[in-house]
Amino acid sequence: MPQHIAVIMDGNGRWATKRALPRKAGHKEGVKTLLSIARHAFERGVRYFTVYAFSTENKFRPADEVNALVDLIREHFSRSFNDFVKSGIRVNVLGDRQFFPDDVIAILDKIENESKEGDKGTFNIALNYGARAEIARAINLLVQSGEEVTEQSISRYLYTANQPDPDIIIRTGGEKRLSNFLLYQSAYTELFFSDTLWPDFSKNEFDEILVKFHDRNRRYGKV
Ligand code: FPP
Repeated sequence: MPQHIAVIMDGNGRWATKRALPRKAGHKEGVKTLLSIARHAFERGVRYFTVYAFSTENKFRPADEVNALVDLIREHFSRSFNDFVKSGIRVNVLGDRQFFPDDVIAILDKIENESKEGDKGTFNIALNYGARAEIARAINLLVQSGEEVTEQSISRYLYTANQPDPDIIIRTGGEKRLSNFLLYQSAYTELFFSDTLWPDFSKNEFDEILVKFHDRNRRYGKV
């Protein structure tokens, strides 16, 4: 079983547009899929589950859509995500939360604090996250610490410090790129691309990817 699976949840906007709904309706549906797939991943034995929920670029979308995403974050981090905490999952935010309103920052801090002893798994949610910004931040912290700059010391200052690198990154929605997600951590990650729009992504498709992962031969540059 892969230890760490990460997901780029793409296609919410198109899912909504196809139904003549506003884009924010796609994000609302996308959260339902997120909750169901995350639960399923932990039930399957995955230890680390990471999702790209809000990129550093997403904040430049129209205010109506940004506000809808912030509202969903406010709502779900104070309610549905607590079910994960109750089952021993540690909730961890990757990214620069200072962008969000104070009440949202407080909600994020609270759930992280309350779940930090969770030992059944780690649920990373990337919010106002960009991998290049993450690497630049890590190097700044590292230089300030006076430690030697090595591959391992950089890792320790990333938002995913002390976590294994992702075994799998899944991107839904048809595009085949990483879009500034986990660039440092994905050096040897197996990539899976699906044409399914995120709100339609199913547990069944997730399981099919697990089967395909087992068929891949990971050589890490060796023979
Ligand atoms: C990409 O679809 C998806 C996003 C930009 C946001 C994903 C966010 C969620 C699923 C919900 C986050 C909320 C919580 C509570 C974690 P897109 O809008 O780029 O879709 P498109 O490519 O079809 O336009």
